[in-house]
Amino acid sequence: MLRSPAMNKVILAFSGGLDTSVCVKYLQKLHSLDVITLTVDVGQDEDFKEIEKISMDLGSIDHIYIDAKEEFVNEYVAPAIKANALYQQEYPLATAIARPLIAKKSVEIAKKYNVASIAHGCTGKGNDQIRFDITIKSLNPNIKIIAPIRDLNLTRDKEISFAKENGVKISEISKKYSVDKNLWGRSIEGGILESLGNEPLEDAFEYVKFNNDSVGSVELGFEKGIPVSINGKTEELPSLIDQLNRIAGSFGIGIVDHIEDRIIGIKSREVYEAPAALILICAHKDLEKLTLTNHELRFKAIVEEQWSWLAYSGLWLDPLLSDLNQFIEKTQERVTGKIKIKMHNGYYRVIGRESKFSLYNKDIATYLSNSNFDQTMAKGFVELWGLPSITANTVISDNNP
Ligand code: ARG
Repeated sequence: MLRSPAMNKVILAFSGGLDTSVCVKYLQKLHSLDVITLTVDVGQDEDFKEIEKISMDLGSIDHIYIDAKEEFVNEYVAPAIKANALYQQEYPLATAIARPLIAKKSVEIAKKYNVASIAHGCTGKGNDQIRFDITIKSLNPNIKIIAPIRDLNLTRDKEISFAKENGVKISEISKKYSVDKNLWGRSIEGGILESLGNEPLEDAFEYVKFNNDSVGSVELGFEKGIPVSINGKTEELPSLIDQLNRIAGSFGIGIVDHIEDRIIGIKSREVYEAPAALILICAHKDLEKLTLTNHELRFKAIVEEQWSWLAYSGLWLDPLLSDLNQFIEKTQERVTGKIKIKMHNGYYRVIGRESKFSLYNKDIATYLSNSNFDQTMAKGFVELWGLPSITANTVISDNNP
């Protein structure tokens, strides 16, 4: 017989940071709930034993750790690479694509533990609440969602004083910034960054180094749109991304500092650190330019914009995203080859490319006399290509003497 889900317990998506630590206490005190914390490993490379200890010290009745790195990389990061996903041309969506996976795992655990409610530590000012709520409800509309920070209209300063009063430990970085991290990148917000004139200080970054003046290069191999090798060595994608974060970061590469339009209507200043994501998308785009037709590229750019928008705005499970993925997947059949990138002092560019599906034909492109391109054919083409514009301009000037 099916038991109805327990109302006295809650699954809390838990990072061990300020917001979610404070949530444990609020759920206990205000909702009289027993808290089961869930930490999903999406490559944040933290001390998970320590996170479990934080949870237990806060009085949770249980703590669950799920290693979802493979799933994150294969089901979320790989499609983002194929989609060259950059929100507002800059943000590689690290936080945005991890939230639906954390939400999905929370729903699975709620089912497994027969618990009626899921809680998260999102504020009512950000995008993460949208991603959590819509994904949870898409997977199970009956789950009750509790978001203490949003419900109580809490601010970061209030959270810090509540934490102090309730013996909740706060890390040094939490005092300075609000950080979210996974294998695809780090998002850094708040603190001194809220004043637009303040340059982010070195203490905000983990991978990016500021004192390396040497020049380096890296060669990336792709198979059907997926990165498969680094400097000639075959690597699984999680390890390739991890290595590239360190390599590119050591050349000062990976910082994005931009003004972002949140779904909720707020413009915010967002700083990201994502060396591997930026390099891989740059390399992948370049390989597509070599292997896809002009027509495919123009249409794919429209699809990419939509894809990034859906992922950003919490609509990961909207059927449109999987429709777009089917189109993108088809385009990737020929996105195989190698791209070489030069790196120096925060700057990077492609310096070499090769592919068995290359559409570049030197015999046609060359300006030398061995070209087999018959230039005389171009005259008629140019006349017909320009016909609508030339006709329109003639009519306009005839009527505006
Ligand atoms: N603006 C980014 C996004 O919406 C980053 C959010 C970062 N979250 C955080 N808890 N610091 O994806």
